[in-house]
Amino acid sequence: MRLLDKVCIITGSANGIGLASARKFSSEGAVSIVCDRDKELAENAAVSIRAEGGRAYSYFVDVTDRQTVEAMVYDVQTRLHRIDTLVNNAGITKDARLINMTEEDWDAVINVNLKGAFHCTQVVAKHMLARGTGSIINTSSITGVYGNFGQGNYAATKAGVIGLTKTWARELGSKGIRVNAVVPGSIATHILDTVPPEQLDKIKNGCWLKRIGQPEEVANVYAFLASDEASYVNGATIEVSGGVSL
Ligand SMILES: NC(=O)c1ccc[n+]([C@@H]2O[C@H](COP(=O)([O-])OP(=O)(O)OC[C@H]3O[C@@H](n4cnc5c(N)ncnc54)[C@H](O)[C@@H]3O)[C@@H](O)[C@H]2O)c1
Repeated sequence: MRLLDKVCIITGSANGIGLASARKFSSEGAVSIVCDRDKELAENAAVSIRAEGGRAYSYFVDVTDRQTVEAMVYDVQTRLHRIDTLVNNAGITKDARLINMTEEDWDAVINVNLKGAFHCTQVVAKHMLARGTGSIINTSSITGVYGNFGQGNYAATKAGVIGLTKTWARELGSKGIRVNAVVPGSIATHILDTVPPEQLDKIKNGCWLKRIGQPEEVANVYAFLASDEASYVNGATIEVSGGVSL
């Protein structure tokens, strides 16, 4: 068990990649902290992980609301006395071309994907610094590296997440905290619900593995980065896209 007794906070883990990760982390011996703004789904996730024999707790967290982040971290510290991993996984899209993008949609995506990661990392890093150890994993996207039609707000946040990763890896590395980014391609979750079928076919054809990825395939990489096997991996951006950019 690669994550035995590690306490791992995963934001946006009521669904999709985050949920697959909470399952994976618990199966590797971790205590998964399932955080989501969907309270009921988060609780269902924790209940199902416990039913499978894993350890998990659910928390209502809206990553844009610092108080909910602080309350969760305080409770986890009080209950479990350690935080080993933070996965800044919560993310949203609100797509529109430049000409049609509303200020509300711009702000909403920046607030969740970028400011949310800042809130969670700043609050958790204080506890990791006190212990002198930790792994922080940020979720970017290939859209953040290559851009994507109609996703200016999302691309800006996902590029920003890479900048944050490299900056925090420099600031925190000497204190025992590793910071890395995972860069998923197209993964079969609700986030693809709004993508038309013909566009999904194009995505599959553009990927050298000729398929969409599964949430578990990203969760496996998160688990590696959270584990001591990744002890010399810091400031890295690991693409999990089936080689779509080749
Ligand atoms: N699925 C893909 O194709 C893909 C590709 C590249 C990157 N990503 C990134 O992976 C991450 C996970 O995406 P997913 O596909 O699993 O999405 P998803 O929509 O299936 O799950 C996202 C979860 O985040 C939660 N969430 C949203 N806003 C939140 C907030 N303010 N506070 C707390 N929780 C919040 C949602 O309730 C949901 O449970 C995101 O950062 C996304 O940008 C996904």
